[in-house]
Amino acid sequence: MSPYIADAAAWQESWDRQQEAYLPDREHRFAAVLDAVAATTEGEAPRLLDLAGGTGSISLRALARFPGAEVTLLDIDPVLLAVAEASLAGRAAIVSADLGGPDWRDGLPHRRYDAVLTATALHWLAPERLTALYAEIRDVLRPGGIFVNADHMPDDALPTLTKRLTARAEARRSGRYAAGAVLSWQDWWAHVAADPALAPLVERRRQIYPTGHSAEWTPPVSWHLEALRAAGFAEAGTLWRGGPDAAVVGLR
Ligand SMILES: C[S@@+](CC[C@H](N)C(=O)[O-])C[C@H]1O[C@@H](n2cnc3c(N)ncnc32)[C@H](O)[C@@H]1O
Repeated sequence: MSPYIADAAAWQESWDRQQEAYLPDREHRFAAVLDAVAATTEGEAPRLLDLAGGTGSISLRALARFPGAEVTLLDIDPVLLAVAEASLAGRAAIVSADLGGPDWRDGLPHRRYDAVLTATALHWLAPERLTALYAEIRDVLRPGGIFVNADHMPDDALPTLTKRLTARAEARRSGRYAAGAVLSWQDWWAHVAADPALAPLVERRRQIYPTGHSAEWTPPVSWHLEALRAAGFAEAGTLWRGGPDAAVVGLR
């Protein structure tokens, strides 16, 4: 059973602020992702899967834009899932599953989706697993359905600029942390550990992520596009780019 979270909106807001410290254009990329959903789905009630959805940032924005949407959020983190469950309050199906193997599909409430959306998450997976996952995602899309992955995906034609942009972003982030302008990843988790409702879930999380995070792997956009084509998507391309990040699309 999920814990009672007194102010889910506040946890959602602090998660968003913490993530925006890494991704100042986060809202812009989410808007681009939802524009692509609007362009490929008919009517106001698309069936959406928010993959590795965390606290529900994409799900909440999707429901605001498509009030009739049928949303499923899947993640493995018990803390983030508890926040998602509280802030989505019955407006989305919540699934706890591990994208590290093909069984994640077993718990989905629907066999097919109009759109599968994911952000800042799949760089937690190893190359072989991500390659296989792309094909599994294609399988849960209806023909014509859309997959969007927004993540750290450098432009391989601009290695020097990417390095400099990344260094500038890191320096700015450090300055903001030092001045207390925003919570760092570690500080956000320290707040979670100090919360009476969420603290009991932290130990469960520790068993999943003993170091607090998994290893990161961030290949360039070209790798993703090739992998999407190899997974059988009819069209694969770049929807959005911002500095070292991008959103790639696969259309089934
Ligand atoms: C940085 S968060 C992003 C969450 C959300 N998409 C957002 O933009 O706010 C990365 C998410 O990926 C999830 N994740 C990483 N590896 C996973 C796996 N193997 N199975 C399910 N979820 C995973 C984490 O639990 C976390 O919620």
